[in-house]
Amino acid sequence: MESPILAPSILAADHTRLADDVHAVEALGIQWLHIDIMDGHFVPNLSFGPKTVADLRSKSKLFFDVHLMIDNPSEYIEPFAQAGADLISIHVEPDYDVAETLSRIRELGATPGIVINPNTKVDAAIPFLSQVDLILAMTVEPGFGGQSFTDSVLEKVRELDEIRQSRSLNFRIEVDGGINTETAELCRNAGVDTFVAGTAFFKAPDRAAFMDRIQSMD
Ligand code: DX5
Ligand code: ZN
Repeated sequence: MESPILAPSILAADHTRLADDVHAVEALGIQWLHIDIMDGHFVPNLSFGPKTVADLRSKSKLFFDVHLMIDNPSEYIEPFAQAGADLISIHVEPDYDVAETLSRIRELGATPGIVINPNTKVDAAIPFLSQVDLILAMTVEPGFGGQSFTDSVLEKVRELDEIRQSRSLNFRIEVDGGINTETAELCRNAGVDTFVAGTAFFKAPDRAAFMDRIQSMD
């Protein structure tokens, strides 16, 4: 299995000093940064827009993993790609042309990812697995940081890992929500290689130790 990647989620950072918190992530040698985009419709919360991504882009070389939690992803992939998103992941749940939007993400020069909510079956993502470099299995209902991990998602991760192996696909499997050192271990054993952590990372008494725990999982 690929070695684990940690993607700290800046939703849990101090939004009045985002650049400082992003530099702190970079100073630890971490390579990914998870950026949550919320529209107040698909999820009951608001977060960042393309300008936040563009402004951070000018100050950081991290790989920007941009998670769109919005009703109309097809209308926003271009501004986020132009803002400097490296990976753009889009949910299967809203009503839009997912396949076409994934192709356009690649045409725009970004890496496409697909996302399923905790109650969405793996089946809903299967038609798109050959088109993506990453599938994000949400381990909480999206919208807020600091929620508890949903154990039932582990079964879906195992299913995705089986599909990945049996079809010789090489998408990454990412989890997001309630990830700490214990839940990360459960996910790792089920086949996860990419770990988003908001609260557990930014509120950790020792962020370097948290990073080491995630990155040293077998
Ligand atoms: C939830 C977001 C997450 C969030 C995770 O809607 O997609 O990325 O930041 O936060 P924690 O790690 O605190 O559960
Ligand atoms: Zn997220």
